[in-house]
Amino acid sequence: MRHDHITSTKQLSRGDIEAILDRAGEIAADPLRFADRHEDALLGLLFFEPSTRTKMSFSAAIKRLGGDIVDMGPVDSSSVKKGESLADTVRVVEGYADALVMRHPSEGSAQMASEYVDVPLINAGDGAGQHPTQTLLDLYTIRESAGLDGLTVGIMGDLKYGRTVHSLAQALTNFEASQHFISPESLKLPRNVRYDLHEEGSSIKEHTDLQEILPSLDVLYVTRIQKERFPDESEYRAVAGEYQIDADLLSAAKDDLTVMHPLPRVDEIAYDVDETDHAQYFEQAHNGVPVRMALLDTLLEGQA
Ligand code: NCD
Repeated sequence: MRHDHITSTKQLSRGDIEAILDRAGEIAADPLRFADRHEDALLGLLFFEPSTRTKMSFSAAIKRLGGDIVDMGPVDSSSVKKGESLADTVRVVEGYADALVMRHPSEGSAQMASEYVDVPLINAGDGAGQHPTQTLLDLYTIRESAGLDGLTVGIMGDLKYGRTVHSLAQALTNFEASQHFISPESLKLPRNVRYDLHEEGSSIKEHTDLQEILPSLDVLYVTRIQKERFPDESEYRAVAGEYQIDADLLSAAKDDLTVMHPLPRVDEIAYDVDETDHAQYFEQAHNGVPVRMALLDTLLEGQA
């Protein structure tokens, strides 16, 4: 891979993505073969926002490679509370670890922080910006269930603030996907993301109604309304509860439709969907471990 820091899916070519997914496939098939691959490697965790899956699966990934974590822990018990800048924090912490994983509420923070460090820095979510490693496990999941080329993909929910959406839409431009974006008017894709997709020559369509496009979809990627990013709560309440799916609604879909969600879900996917063959979101979350192992293996190999 050409880049050590992973801050956006824009920097990943089709070849980069396929190499990581292939390695993830090898790891998933025989995880023990990789068990002592990076003994003594330390992964620094800097989570300035809540996380369950991303943080735990990165921890599991480095441990399954033989390494360990050094964790800043909750922001409230770190020196950030004393007023330390992000630039200073990462410059200090790079001395304690071989790679860093950072999640932060400010868009652009990962790019900024990466300019201060020499060890690889992985963006685990920068505000409403990007979440590239989520995309890698999303693509792995799509490849496993539907193959990656020529798909009709629907992405629904909070397209404005959803960083997983921005990263995934960008990455799908490498695979000639026909992309359909389904959201209320107020949560449409941001202009800069739409612009980038057009620049890539990607075919995208925007909808406010899922029903009109559901029967043609191979993949439906549902997202949570990002409540924490709404400047004004009444704006949130106006859209909360829209864009939900249940098993009944999915009867209009193709039999082999794959339903995904980066999780956590709130009420976007009814529990009765879990029992259908469409549901892939728990599998998707589990794929975070081999995919993040593959990425760490690649980045740490480059360091050696
Ligand atoms: C996502 C995130 O943090 O952007 N979560 C995750 O990493 N799987 C999605 C979300 O919070 O809605």
